[in-house]
Amino acid sequence: MRIFSGIQPTGRKHLGNYLGAIVQYVAGQDRGEAIYCIVDLHATTRPYDPAELRARVHDTTALLIAAGLDPARCILFRQSDVAEHTELCWLLTAVSAFGELNRMHQFRDKSGGQRELASAGLFLYPVLQAADVLAYRAEEVPVGEDQREHVELMRDVAERFNARFGETLVVPALRVPQVAARVRDLQEPERKMSTTGAGEQGTLHVLDDAEAIERKFRRAVTDSGTEIVRGPEKPGVSNLIEILAAVREIEPGEVERELAGARGYGDLKQATADAVIARLSPVQERYRALRDDEARLEATLAAGAAKARAIAAETLTDVRERMGVGSPR
Ligand code: TRP
Repeated sequence: MRIFSGIQPTGRKHLGNYLGAIVQYVAGQDRGEAIYCIVDLHATTRPYDPAELRARVHDTTALLIAAGLDPARCILFRQSDVAEHTELCWLLTAVSAFGELNRMHQFRDKSGGQRELASAGLFLYPVLQAADVLAYRAEEVPVGEDQREHVELMRDVAERFNARFGETLVVPALRVPQVAARVRDLQEPERKMSTTGAGEQGTLHVLDDAEAIERKFRRAVTDSGTEIVRGPEKPGVSNLIEILAAVREIEPGEVERELAGARGYGDLKQATADAVIARLSPVQERYRALRDDEARLEATLAAGAAKARAIAAETLTDVRERMGVGSPR
């Protein structure tokens, strides 16, 4: 089983990213051949600062390794280091329709009322994402629910390519982690935890120190009543129970049973804070040890890119041949 996922180079990953995506990437290393790409080219589709982008790639690399990605057991690399991604993106535009890209939710949302001013890169974002995955003939794409539309598009693009030019690309399957879908904002538990548009108090970052973690859980919004059980009328309490279960890798029902005799929500908040700190502090320690050695991070990314390129180059040879571009084989 070959697994591929792309990760935005943002420094501030939150608990939802960690429990949903990152933990699943780590597990992917045992399930098959896992390929993880830090997508710096995608980051250029919206306004950004060049020096900042480099730093965020290093942050992300260090965080992923700290969380358990082992560059000896997976392929971890930076998108722009493997030129095959941009080449395949262009070639795939031949089987991508203007209309379908124009209808993509992300393009609509992120271009906002400024459609005319949005970069052409934002428009082509899904085609580059398709190229990321299809270049490796990956079978499975672990991503959040918000990426469903992008994965559907890459499946369509792959099928269309195969129909037009002959069987060449693998049609990948979407895999949505269950936990990610459930981690809610600590202040507004009706919404998903997220870095965009949310207040600082509601979002728990992987690199928050113990004091901040305690404070955010202490101030987490709970619900009326005192019973520690999940339910649709108790989104705040349900969220804490789910988080506590996920970080301890037990079932939410077990948390409810354990805390049945608790004095109130204060105990639940304290138990959750304690468990999150216990889970994240070794990750934070490893992160600090890794982050400053940028030469080593670069060497790790370069080694990953060499492995990635070897796979992608083979696909590109086939794609060029099928499409009749470049000198014949
Ligand atoms: N668009 C994805 C996100 O915002 C990131 C991404 C880029 C990706 N290329 C990918 C995810 C390929 C999966 C596969 O999270």
